[in-house]
Amino acid sequence: MARTWERSKLSIWVWCVLAGSCLGRFVVEKNSLKVSTPASLKGSYESAIGNFGVPQYGGSMPGTVFYPKDNRDACESFENFNASFKSATRQLPIVLLADRGVCYFTLKAWNAQNGGAAAILVADDRDGDLITMDTPGEDHGDSGYLQNITIPAALIKKSLGDDIKKALSDGDMVTMHLDWTEALPHPDERVEYEFWTNSNDECGPKCDTQIEFVKNFKGAAQILERKGYAQFTPHYITWFCPPEFLSSDQCRSQCINNGRYCAPDPEQDFGKGYNGRDVVLQNLRQICLFKVANVSSKPWLWWDFVTDFAIRCPMKEEKFTKECAEKVIQSLGVDLEKINECIGDTDTDVDNPVLKAEQDAQIGEGSRGDVSILPTLIINNRQYRGKLDGGAVLKALCAGFQETTEPAICLSSDIETNECLENNGGCWQDKVAKITACRDTFRGRVCECPLVQGVKFVGDGYTHCEASGTLHCETNNGGCWNDTRGGRTFSACVDDSSTGCKCPPGFTGDGVNSCEDVDECKEKKVCQCPECKCKDTWGGFECTCSSGLLYMREYDTCISTHSAKKSNFGGFFWIVIFGLAAAGVGAYVVYKYRIRSYMDTEIRSIMAQYMPLDGHVEVPSHGSHTDI
Ligand SMILES: *[C@@H]1O[C@H](CO)[C@@H](O)[C@H](O)[C@H]1NC(C)=O
Ligand SMILES: *[C@@H]1O[C@H](CO)[C@@H](O)[C@H](O)[C@H]1NC(C)=O
Ligand SMILES: *[C@@H]1O[C@H](CO)[C@@H](O)[C@H](O)[C@H]1NC(C)=O
Ligand SMILES: *[C@@H]1O[C@H](CO)[C@@H](O)[C@H](O)[C@H]1NC(C)=O
Repeated sequence: MARTWERSKLSIWVWCVLAGSCLGRFVVEKNSLKVSTPASLKGSYESAIGNFGVPQYGGSMPGTVFYPKDNRDACESFENFNASFKSATRQLPIVLLADRGVCYFTLKAWNAQNGGAAAILVADDRDGDLITMDTPGEDHGDSGYLQNITIPAALIKKSLGDDIKKALSDGDMVTMHLDWTEALPHPDERVEYEFWTNSNDECGPKCDTQIEFVKNFKGAAQILERKGYAQFTPHYITWFCPPEFLSSDQCRSQCINNGRYCAPDPEQDFGKGYNGRDVVLQNLRQICLFKVANVSSKPWLWWDFVTDFAIRCPMKEEKFTKECAEKVIQSLGVDLEKINECIGDTDTDVDNPVLKAEQDAQIGEGSRGDVSILPTLIINNRQYRGKLDGGAVLKALCAGFQETTEPAICLSSDIETNECLENNGGCWQDKVAKITACRDTFRGRVCECPLVQGVKFVGDGYTHCEASGTLHCETNNGGCWNDTRGGRTFSACVDDSSTGCKCPPGFTGDGVNSCEDVDECKEKKVCQCPECKCKDTWGGFECTCSSGLLYMREYDTCISTHSAKKSNFGGFFWIVIFGLAAAGVGAYVVYKYRIRSYMDTEIRSIMAQYMPLDGHVEVPSHGSHTDI
């Protein structure tokens, strides 16, 4: 009896460490959700990225929200309700809104995906901070579909969910963008990433996922590392035995170095098979292998070791031993003696510097938060959320490079998305000129106005793009007529127009081959007042007034500067002065504002590398949840 009691208490302790609620700061990774219609909801909102599915790191996705009539918690297959969310061509993808509760988050996402939805938003059913939606553990039913979830999933606050539901019931169309561009920092041309893992291979789907990931990702990881694009560090979570349990069988069988470093029993049965202690020892061996390999500048050998070890030394075949591990080490040509030196004496009551450093690293610094979900991938000091799958992770890593510095592997067709093939990816296009704003990249498809033959197009990329200024006229004068005479240059290229060439005022013609001077005096009938004397010039005209009168171009008339007209002219004069002053103040305000907002983004982008800013603040929460 006493033993059972102690055991349940111990498993509560183990559970609380695993779930992170004892350690405190669990970080909920966010992406932003931008609602564009209806106007009453327009704005940016936070949503918490689910720890499954494939978030489009570095990219964004537009969509219209659909809230089903039946099966609102998405716990049943939508086939049973004859519902389909496949968007017709030329329609935005459908984002399914589902209620939290009743079943696992993963099941909701799976049903949404099978129904044809492009993403799922789960509306929280209680007020409070967002949590990370996690995958169910091994003891929970059939999770065979888990690895097949490919749509992104995010949790939104109850208040936003309620607002969207209300708008939909009022007959409004709710459109939005899910945006992951700021979900990962991308400061430079090298990505630092960490993988928090475990040598245990008998913990159900989580362990299977882990080893599958390492196998799948090994190739890409090694290329990135060998070429210096990425710096990878593996990490292992351990925890310590609470002092009151130090002499218990449990801690003895789970821990090394007198309760300092422990791992949970693989079978959760202390009498059977391998113990937590065996797992900690293998973990330690794997870190030491990495350290030794890293010193000899071959850190990527860790990937070989871990995959080989999983194949050659599985627990199932009772080969999870020191001897088996050492054979693998030797076959990789790593110095075994140095590794054993690093492992040190595990039976005595002393600190192990390597494991101690791991425990310290577990506590999050800055924006990262504590590591409490195993396995966890950390990219540029931010926790990766989503499916642990080679392609999805590579996409996320690629999003960690500063744009244009990403290595070739990121631009390979393997991870491009071909989203532009269908419905032009929902982006702007000019079918006649065959110009499109859709571009397939590892960041997902992006709607970005293109650069066509030296002409930069500008616009939102979705509804409009137009040929823009400077570049357009700089190259060969945009293909338009230009001429210089007597120090005056006229050009038919208009900087802010997509309409090609247009003769400047004072000229007429096609704008491409020629622009002819207009004789304003004759054709436009300017400068025709009795006191006026008109003279045509190239590109304009000159008007002079007789007998001391002054020509006012705006009014095309000659006025007296003397008494009779004085008050009139004075009023006009002040209007002009006042107008000029107002324009000056206006321009100054615009200038100040632009400088301010420019400085703002510059400073923010620098600051963002050091601390979370309000755009993507992370609110510590009490853990992750798998369901209801
Ligand atoms: C679904 O459609 C089928 C055939 O069109 C029909 O027999 C069935 O009753 C429908 N089910 C529901 C729930 O509407
Ligand atoms: C998941 O995908 C795999 C491979 O594509 C397939 O064999 C398997 O049946 C799928 N699982 C489910 C539950 O659909
Ligand atoms: C691995 O080696 C690199 C350079 O040789 C070093 O900067 C890095 O800190 C090392 N990593 C670990 C975990 O020792
Ligand atoms: C016309 O524009 C081109 C390109 O901007 C420039 O090189 C050329 O000198 C211009 N010609 C005249 C006559 O101004």
